[in-house]
Amino acid sequence: MNSDISRILISNDLIKERIKQLAEQITKDFLGQELVIVCILKGAFIFAADLCREINLPVNLEFMSISSYGNATVSSGVVRIIKDLNESIEGKNVLIVEDIIDTGLTVSYLASLLSQRAPKSLKICSLCNKPQCHKTLVKIDYCGFELPSEFVVGYGLDFRDFYRNLPYIGVLKAEIYTRYLDSNG
Ligand code: PRP
Repeated sequence: MNSDISRILISNDLIKERIKQLAEQITKDFLGQELVIVCILKGAFIFAADLCREINLPVNLEFMSISSYGNATVSSGVVRIIKDLNESIEGKNVLIVEDIIDTGLTVSYLASLLSQRAPKSLKICSLCNKPQCHKTLVKIDYCGFELPSEFVVGYGLDFRDFYRNLPYIGVLKAEIYTRYLDSNG
């Protein structure tokens, strides 16, 4: 285990197993239809890559980059579009794929933005959810895991852009970010 991690919350085996279940449900729900997966960069890239390979449907992949945190550990509520979709989603089944829903502000903003583009359907899939941290009402259609309100990293989730490559989801040692906050205000 990485020495900056205090404990593993979700092992790689458990993540893989849960992704198979989510993909099975998604395949069932959209049977006979096409699906556009909108992967929200950067965090969701690993989850989306694993999830789409387990979905047995004709899938288009789109990428959108939205920044809500910058280098901070708490959401500012400010959502900035860095990269928009390449294709129109009008009349299509769209699945927003996120790594984590914390305050819910990012995904709520995204869902309202994409719904204005007249998709046939719009659903949200997130690997992790922190229900205790929501600041807005969010309907998550497919959720992998509910997490406590601790700062977690790994499997796409970062702290200062590090730790995304860890194969599991773990709790970052408090000293790592307090040390960073002390030296950066
Ligand atoms: C993270 C995560 C979600 C968002 C969730 O993205 O990937 O998009 O924060 O937080 P919220 O529910 O409080 O809005 P971040 O802006 O950190 O960018 P990243 O995906 O590049 O790490």
